[in-house]
Amino acid sequence: MNDSLNYSREPEDRDSFTRKLDRAYGMFARPYDIGVKMLPVWKTWLKRAIPHIKGPRVLEVSFGTGFLLTQYAGEFDTDGIDYNEKMVAVASDNLERKGIAARLRQGNVEALPYEHDTFDCIVNTMAFSGYPDGHRAMSELHRVLKPGGRLVIIDVEFPADRNRLGMGATRIWAALGDLIRDLGKLLHECGFDYTEEEIGGFGTVHLYVATKRY
Ligand SMILES: C[S@@+](CC[C@H](N)C(=O)[O-])C[C@H]1O[C@@H](n2cnc3c(N)ncnc32)[C@H](O)[C@@H]1O
Repeated sequence: MNDSLNYSREPEDRDSFTRKLDRAYGMFARPYDIGVKMLPVWKTWLKRAIPHIKGPRVLEVSFGTGFLLTQYAGEFDTDGIDYNEKMVAVASDNLERKGIAARLRQGNVEALPYEHDTFDCIVNTMAFSGYPDGHRAMSELHRVLKPGGRLVIIDVEFPADRNRLGMGATRIWAALGDLIRDLGKLLHECGFDYTEEEIGGFGTVHLYVATKRY
């Protein structure tokens, strides 16, 4: 499909990739929280997920400091999981301050601590490109979703029209450590039907609304 595009190679040592990223998030959890709250464009992107979230049971994977959770978690029976302990702590504070209940815990997308077919919806924003093994992560999301359940992903990809600003922006995302993947292909291979929309960043920020096929 997009063979001419220069998608990222996945790291051979997944554990050290994840540990390195985790150290960075550990140092930057508080500044990240302030950044998200103060950056209108980031919040606008994340909020595009909200109309697609359906309950009753919702899981947000890699919620970071929990900005998006504060926007919807109170309306559903919500769980959240993130690898970084500090992110979990900051998000828990943010939810508590707003009086919003959700079950948050630390954990890895590659081994989600939930039964098969548990959730009606999974939300995942600006995080998938930080997972070292796309197939493994996507298969886990698929496993814990109910058949017919919905996966809402926002992440970075090449712009469909290959515009120069977007192509440049994608290279910058990649230089910052993001793994740029053909997410549509991955969704299809892992058992999802999906729609895709470019929502910002010169066509580099994509919203995928996917349904578990089987
Ligand atoms: C760029 S932040 C995005 C946070 C939030 N979703 C947002 O859109 O602002 C990426 C998040 O992914 C989490 N993360 C990274 N690797 C992970 C993994 N293997 N399993 C679960 N979460 C992970 C990080 O701890 C971090 O909170």
